[in-house]
Amino acid sequence: MTRSNETQDRQREFALSNKEFEKLTGLVHSLTGIVLGEHKKDMLYSRLARRLRDLGLQSFNQYCALLDSQQAAKETGFLVNAITTNLTKLYRESHHFDSLASYLQTIQKDKYRKTGDKTVLIWSAGCSSGEEPYSIATTILSKAPLLSNWNVKILATDLDTNMLAKGREGVYPLSSLDSLPYGYKTAIKDNIQTKDTEIKFRDRAKSLIHFKQLNLLHEWPMKHKFDIIFCRNVLIYFDAETKDNLVQRFTENLRPDGMLFLGHSESLMHKPEEIKLIGKTTYVKESLSDG
Ligand SMILES: C[S@@+](CC[C@H](N)C(=O)[O-])C[C@H]1O[C@@H](n2cnc3c(N)ncnc32)[C@H](O)[C@@H]1O
Repeated sequence: MTRSNETQDRQREFALSNKEFEKLTGLVHSLTGIVLGEHKKDMLYSRLARRLRDLGLQSFNQYCALLDSQQAAKETGFLVNAITTNLTKLYRESHHFDSLASYLQTIQKDKYRKTGDKTVLIWSAGCSSGEEPYSIATTILSKAPLLSNWNVKILATDLDTNMLAKGREGVYPLSSLDSLPYGYKTAIKDNIQTKDTEIKFRDRAKSLIHFKQLNLLHEWPMKHKFDIIFCRNVLIYFDAETKDNLVQRFTENLRPDGMLFLGHSESLMHKPEEIKLIGKTTYVKESLSDG
């Protein structure tokens, strides 16, 4: 331990030894895939100190003991919710929604004619508090309105149960509208009610979205392939092997011609052969007629 760490530890309410830090980060990694290096020690401390206070514990040593006890299963849920980073916003990385809108218009025009199928399945994987799936829903309603007569489903999954509860509620602070990109203000405003300092999504947007808890590291129970998958700003928290493995699984779960959107800093070192880059962190799966 360095001198500055020692000073910091003396000033902290709870001591956090290297051994405890390693135990907690090891557990977080095995539960979520999230990698927490030494530089994340302050973050881990501040996110868990509150939990220790709520539990009336005196030290991280006691918290680690709790995670080894019979109550571990219940506590790991709190640990995971505390550790995940949930930063998100409406129409984040709005260029993806421009590509989404034009792909939805192609689906609206061609899919039924070519395949007789009027289903559109979209997955927002790592949806956090729901702003991403609501941005997808309002893009559908405003830019490809004929699809509202189709069977359109947005599956919105996350590991963090607190975030899923927020998403299901569909209520956000009025300030969420502050930085909406040009071209999407009406899409949102047509699909919300405003009350005091809050906005609430209307049922027509809400009814398109199905929030479910899913750990991306586990088996995926989906029976059908997706037309579109968003997994943005999630892979950055994982190691290279987990990231490659997930991108391979997303690719397998896409229909031919389907689109995959990743986050702005998630360009791929090892891209599966079946997908090609067509825009900024935007991929399309090869169509059946290719090759
Ligand atoms: C930064 S948010 C991204 C939200 C949204 N996709 C966006 O780009 O604005 C990352 C989300 O990934 C979720 N997450 C982290 N590890 C996960 C895992 N193993 N399985 C499912 N979700 C996970 C977190 O709970 C968090 O809500």
